[in-house]
Amino acid sequence: MTYIVNESCIKCKLMDCVEVCPVDCFYEGENMLVIHPGECIDCGVCEPECPVEAIKPDTEPGAEKWLKLNADYAKTWPNITVKKAPPADSKEWRASRTNFNTSRRIPARVIEANRDVRVTPKSRHLGTIGMSAMGQ
Ligand code: SF4
Ligand code: F3S
Repeated sequence: MTYIVNESCIKCKLMDCVEVCPVDCFYEGENMLVIHPGECIDCGVCEPECPVEAIKPDTEPGAEKWLKLNADYAKTWPNITVKKAPPADSKEWRASRTNFNTSRRIPARVIEANRDVRVTPKSRHLGTIGMSAMGQ
């Protein structure tokens, strides 16, 4: 089992979660974070830290697609271990979201890596996803 980040994180990206992970297995895209399933030790500490309930165990119904997304993007996005300032419009998105809100069909692109060399021009290209492609 692992924990995953789902669409509730997109554009909210509050990053409270990264501060508590004992194994630093969060990875940062432009609009959301993901968890590396191979590094997560299933401690569950991060789940209650997320104010928008974006972190769930992969055993929850509907988690399969998010498990794949987390696994795929954790390979190319840079590791994040310290909370940063959330996006300027984070509060606005937080107020309007539910897990069934299709307005979340937005890209979650990889950020520019300024200290982590995992992101190459090739992986940046591959790191552009659309939520509609995930069946949302
Ligand atoms: Fe990190 Fe534990 Fe959350 Fe996994 S469940 S991402 S190990 S805090
Ligand atoms: Fe996202 Fe929640 Fe962490 S909004 S960045 S999963 S605290």
